Amino acid sequence: MDDLRSVDLQVPSPLSELRDDRLGAAGVRVLLKRDDLIHPEIPGNKWRKLKYNIAAARRLGLDTLLTFGGAYSNHIRATAAVGYYEGFNTIGVIRGEEHLPLNPSLAYAAARGMRLTYLDRTTYRAKTSEAVIGRLRREFGEVYLLPEGGSNREAVVGCAEIAAEMTEPFDVLFCAVGTGGTLAGVAAGLDRHQSAVGVPVLKGGAFLEKEIVDLQTSAYGARSGTWHLECDYHFGGYAKRTAELDTFIEDFEKRYGLLLDWVYEAKMMYAIFDLVRRGVVIPGATIVALISGSAEVPEV
Ligand SMILES: Cc1ncc(COP(=O)(O)O)c(C=O)c1O
Repeated sequence: MDDLRSVDLQVPSPLSELRDDRLGAAGVRVLLKRDDLIHPEIPGNKWRKLKYNIAAARRLGLDTLLTFGGAYSNHIRATAAVGYYEGFNTIGVIRGEEHLPLNPSLAYAAARGMRLTYLDRTTYRAKTSEAVIGRLRREFGEVYLLPEGGSNREAVVGCAEIAAEMTEPFDVLFCAVGTGGTLAGVAAGLDRHQSAVGVPVLKGGAFLEKEIVDLQTSAYGARSGTWHLECDYHFGGYAKRTAELDTFIEDFEKRYGLLLDWVYEAKMMYAIFDLVRRGVVIPGATIVALISGSAEVPEV
């Protein structure tokens, strides 16, 4: 296996218990798998998704990574960082118009050497079509293509390694779901008696079921592991928040000193507490909450 060569990574990521009266009263243990601490600029699922892609790009002799994302994409930032540390050129194809000055997320990517280019929203929606890919290849030459969110076969295989790192027994692993690549991998790596729950952070997330099965099929030939989606914790949709979610984040930070990323991790953590409160999680269960990103945009 080719790991990232020049980056100091905290792997296996730490595991810690969340000690909370509400969980204790329900007889449920929650362990935090702190993938956000793997690397300040390549946290969590980003490193897990990118490592086998980097190895594949090297095998193919390609020195440029091209990927896609919105103007606040964590994946865009992480790809820029990996390129910077591992000696790849990076191109970020951003949804929508250019806005100057760049927001802090894109400013960070540019400072890490990423070349930014923009597609209007209609063209961006067709970004996997041959026409759009062909145009990008004509403009940028031979590139290693990473899909939006970095979720492809290699990413799934990287995320599947999480379960094997666990040093304590557990029953259920929860993770936030954007594109589904993380859940596809995590679920595939579980033992038979374990299961995974994905919490889509976008509205109408049930469609992700098929995407996740497709990702697992590309990696393993079939649906893999025991998993399902809890689709009622999107709080209005992708990058939407409510006062209730903000109060939860504040309270969580006060109790545990951990500021949850509100786009992803906070919605997953809220779901865990709500399912425990409603008695859906059975007493005696040990849950792992995968913290796969951080709320901070790193500084260069
Ligand atoms: C911090 C964080 N958590 C969770 C996810 C969801 O991962 P996936 O897109 O693999 O479902 C993302 C998106 O990649 C993310 O940035």
